[in-house]
Amino acid sequence: MQKFDRHRRLRSSAAMRDLVRESHIQKDDLIMPVFIEAGLKGKTEISSMPGVYHFGLDTIMTEIKSIVDLGIKAIILFGLPDHKDEVGTGAWEHDGIVQEATRLIKKSYPDLIVIADTCLCEYTSTGHCGIVKDGVVLNDESLEYITKTAVSQVEAGADIIAPSNAMDGYVAAIREGLDNAGYKNTPIMSYAVKYASSFYGPFREAADSAPAFGDRKTYQMDPANRLDALREVESDEKEGADFVMVKPSMAFLDVMREVRDHTILPLVAYNVSGEYAMVKAAAANGWIDEDKIVNEILVGMKRAGADLIITYFAKDVAAKL
Ligand code: PBG
Repeated sequence: MQKFDRHRRLRSSAAMRDLVRESHIQKDDLIMPVFIEAGLKGKTEISSMPGVYHFGLDTIMTEIKSIVDLGIKAIILFGLPDHKDEVGTGAWEHDGIVQEATRLIKKSYPDLIVIADTCLCEYTSTGHCGIVKDGVVLNDESLEYITKTAVSQVEAGADIIAPSNAMDGYVAAIREGLDNAGYKNTPIMSYAVKYASSFYGPFREAADSAPAFGDRKTYQMDPANRLDALREVESDEKEGADFVMVKPSMAFLDVMREVRDHTILPLVAYNVSGEYAMVKAAAANGWIDEDKIVNEILVGMKRAGADLIITYFAKDVAAKL
């Protein structure tokens, strides 16, 4: 008989499989998204994201405590302001909702890493991530506002700035803004590879941030492209990014791997709202085993090269580790 390889030797028992497992999910890898809403009393569940809530300033600390108690070391904060205008004032004012929440959280949990999502879309009346003039989202004019937002978030205590507004040059602008304000040591986690994706649907409902007209295709990337992703990463590295992100995750694992092979920066996968909603909907119908599916999805991101994962499943996963 012709000689052949016996791959099954290394799969013969649970202990043997544990011994040769290549990718693992640890609590240290997980970043939990948190929505904070101005003026809200209590908490409200997001209908398309069962188990995910908007918190008011009165309930946020209970949520933060449960996150910290589970051993999760980082959160990413998204704000829902009580006022919107053309320049997104709520994103960068001293008493903005993210700034207030950050001060509150850092007072009780100075060791928890608070990542501030730095964008304007939740705060602009247009729902766009930048400043709009004559129907066009202006690039360079938007940089000024995104930089102001970053500086005010760090002033409030944010540990990492995560700009997601997808304007060209935002990393350079924010780096300069932070340095000039005396925050040379605050890292930037760039949403470097951010596709114009329908997987953000539930988030836009949750954050009330859908564009009032048009779409985000002139600033976010075309899902059909991979080389564009490498160009984005190269630019953000040159501009001084400390982390790079690929978003969404599940339909973009090939891009994750390519980015991994091109950068030595820490790589972040964002397991986005639509990916969460699909799993939850199928699980609620009894069609899939949620825990096993979530593990397979997240371990796939690790295998593709992600170091960190932003996921709405972070608490569920941490509770089982
Ligand atoms: C803000 C932002 C979005 C997400 C994170 N930051 C929405 C968007 O770009 O429209 C999406 C996150 C998710 O879907 O979970 N620009």
